[in-house]
Amino acid sequence: MSTPAPLTGDSSIKTWLEHPVGGPILREMLAQSGQDADVLKPVHRLALKRLIKLSKGQFSQDAVDALVARAAAGDVPAGAADAAPEAGAASVTTDTEEVVPVAEAPEWVEKVTGGRFAGQTIIVTGAGSGIGRATASRVAREGGRVIAVDISQERLDEFAADHAGADVVVVSGDITDDAAIAAIVEAAGDRIDGLANIAGIMDDMTPIGEVTDAVWDRVFRINVTGTMKLTRAVIPAMLAQAKGSIVNTASEAALRGSAAGVAYTASKHAVAGITKSSAFMYGPSGIRVNAVAPGPTITNIEASFGSPLGASRVQLAMTLLPDAAEAEALAASITFLLSDDGVNVNGVILPSDGGWSVA
Ligand SMILES: NC(=O)c1ccc[n+]([C@@H]2O[C@H](COP(=O)([O-])OP(=O)(O)OC[C@H]3O[C@@H](n4cnc5c(N)ncnc54)[C@H](O)[C@@H]3O)[C@@H](O)[C@H]2O)c1
Repeated sequence: MSTPAPLTGDSSIKTWLEHPVGGPILREMLAQSGQDADVLKPVHRLALKRLIKLSKGQFSQDAVDALVARAAAGDVPAGAADAAPEAGAASVTTDTEEVVPVAEAPEWVEKVTGGRFAGQTIIVTGAGSGIGRATASRVAREGGRVIAVDISQERLDEFAADHAGADVVVVSGDITDDAAIAAIVEAAGDRIDGLANIAGIMDDMTPIGEVTDAVWDRVFRINVTGTMKLTRAVIPAMLAQAKGSIVNTASEAALRGSAAGVAYTASKHAVAGITKSSAFMYGPSGIRVNAVAPGPTITNIEASFGSPLGASRVQLAMTLLPDAAEAEALAASITFLLSDDGVNVNGVILPSDGGWSVA
């Protein structure tokens, strides 16, 4: 058997977990905080060092350095030798339980296209967190003027501080509120080249027999009415320019009935409807309107399970769940549609989900 390569912060989490020394060390560290290796399953393809950003400070560069040093020294925790699973390639299981090896894909790294949004003003909602933040960041780093919108002033301040040299205007406000919509459009000024409607919330996985008015109204207000209001508000500027690109955020729940509760599923189908209607109406006027349908993505979004029936039904759809993507991977799809690279694309609901929608 060949000796495994030395572990570093760039080695994938999977490589760490399968390593005869690194695996037990990492498992020991997880156990100390009351967790096990399953918690890392959705991100097992990422480099270990990516956990620094994803864990929001809970896992530090010092922790990476300590793990790398212990692995190099062969410092296997006492009694852990038998705990590590066998190393090897990833695998899939056939219906006959035969294990088919699958090669591990190299890690994806975001590549910025310099100047892609130069001279353009792009409004991004939900810019304080997750997919919205990653999109606003990418537009800013590609030379665009970003109107970064979120209900959380604190998150926007942090976003602005992280993009100190870029052309960023923050507007804190609720996209369901008419005064906030007016403030967003005013901050953008005369020219609005793009709008990414990304702010949104999940539901509590309740089926229609159990959904409360409160959950239904809140999910529709933010996911549907907010998207409609802000889109309606930017149309005059885009019509005047005879050009504009709008990207909405749908979901796997816009494509099928098994990914969430009735409120979220219906709201994301409505987002698909807004997208198609607007693309049809304004295509000849130079405005493109598309949507992405993200699969599982690592963000701060919160879902709860308010119904045992809903939970058990939705879990069926999760059996074929792909690895969770980083928010930057969704930003790559959204900025493609937003940018002039998407020139011939209008009215699509683009699944950005690693292929989950065809499973
Ligand atoms: N994360 C996923 O797995 C996933 C999957 C499919 C679809 N989506 C969709 O992606 C979008 C972004 O979600 P995320 O996962 O990045 O979530 P997130 O919670 O990390 O970010 C959403 C941001 O929107 C802001 N926001 C919420 N309500 C708002 C309002 N009324 N006005 C202004 N800002 C508001 C929040 O403060 C937050 O900063 C949502 O529309 C969500 O439905 C996410």
